[in-house]
Amino acid sequence: MADNDKGGLEGIVVARSRMCSIDGQNGVLIYGGYDVKELAKASNYEETAYLLLRGELPSREQYDEFDGRLKRARFNHSKEMSDVVDALAARGAAPMEMLRTAVSTDSFDDPLKDDNSEDANFAKTIGLIGRIPVIIARYTRRRRGLEPVDADPELSHAANFLWMLHGEKPSDHAVKTFDTALILHADHEMNASTFTARVIASTLSDLHSAIVGAIGALKGPLHGGANEQVMLVLEELHASGKKPADAVREKLERKERIMGFGHRVYKTYDPRAMILKEMARDLAVEHPGEEYLFELSEETEQVVTHEKKLYPNVDFYSASTYHYLGIPTDVFTTIFAMSRVVGWAAHVIEQHNDNRLIRPSSEYVGPPPRAYVEIAER
Ligand code: SDX
Repeated sequence: MADNDKGGLEGIVVARSRMCSIDGQNGVLIYGGYDVKELAKASNYEETAYLLLRGELPSREQYDEFDGRLKRARFNHSKEMSDVVDALAARGAAPMEMLRTAVSTDSFDDPLKDDNSEDANFAKTIGLIGRIPVIIARYTRRRRGLEPVDADPELSHAANFLWMLHGEKPSDHAVKTFDTALILHADHEMNASTFTARVIASTLSDLHSAIVGAIGALKGPLHGGANEQVMLVLEELHASGKKPADAVREKLERKERIMGFGHRVYKTYDPRAMILKEMARDLAVEHPGEEYLFELSEETEQVVTHEKKLYPNVDFYSASTYHYLGIPTDVFTTIFAMSRVVGWAAHVIEQHNDNRLIRPSSEYVGPPPRAYVEIAER
């Protein structure tokens, strides 16, 4: 590797893609030509998913057909998937272990499982978008000893998840907030989990295998796993009894990473974090006694930005937003996956449609050539 190379493929362009572009200097995120701020305001997750998969916003007829297929997918999960989810909840499997495993079962009976054509991948993607929320809600209720709540065919994607999770119809404010969070997490250029999905797809392996691999990559605390870590840090700061600014400074002095800050691409405020921050602020006032979470978040942001010139990324304010929506902390990263599955799938489709095996090189830094020595001589 070149000496100035920081590793991690920083700055290396590995593909040409139409779905998403990021301006890291100015903090701009575009999906298919549309600024994510506009989509967050005016669109919904279903429409954004269509845009990422098809490259255009849908007509009314295209939207209704797509939405209808998504809604039907909620109901055609196999008994095997339900049994696996129930067994994993009962044995205390961690949420991302559960998701990785349950998503694998989604291909077992799919006649299209090894068909990498765009139509087959599109159909399989609809199944995953529709069924991953069912998996997560079922697991979260089962491990609390609660009966699963059946999906509601009338509710939107975001509303249906909150309904299945809590067993009560969500407020319009909660639905708009959650739907916006799903839009914000849907795609993000060549992040680690998306790159993982593309590498797997480039061997001509199937969509489900690529999605399972991407779930494994997303789990890491340097990537999607950061949102759970943010919540743990906020709770730790709250419990410390110290002034937040002092506690954060002490962490920085110990060279600890404050999860939810910094980004490989954004060198300014992550535009998604801006929107999530305002949503968390609005939710905080609806949760008397728990306003501290948002207040602590703001104080932490002030210190980290001032001391380290690091800005919040998508994971920082998604933590308090998800908490206020009643989502358990250790389920946060599965929520990231629930949204990002469409971005991963769009990249798998793009890779399968114009494929070349992704196989980079490595620089050998091991011992020079040497003769074999019998074990008795070593
Ligand atoms: C996501 O790639 C994507 O697009 C991902 C994502 C998506 O939508 O898919 O945006 C989602 O994963 C967001 C990032 C979530 N991860 C975290 O919040 C974990 C905390 N952040 C960091 O670990 C870090 O900022 C990364 C991993 C996000 C980016 O790391 P880089 O580009 O490899 O930068 P680096 O680790 O080389 O850090 C550069 C410097 C270092 O200081 P020095 O050693 O040079 O003195 O910044 C420091 C780091 O120590 N630093 C931090 C820090 N992040 C970087 N110091 C304290 N706290 C932090 N969070």
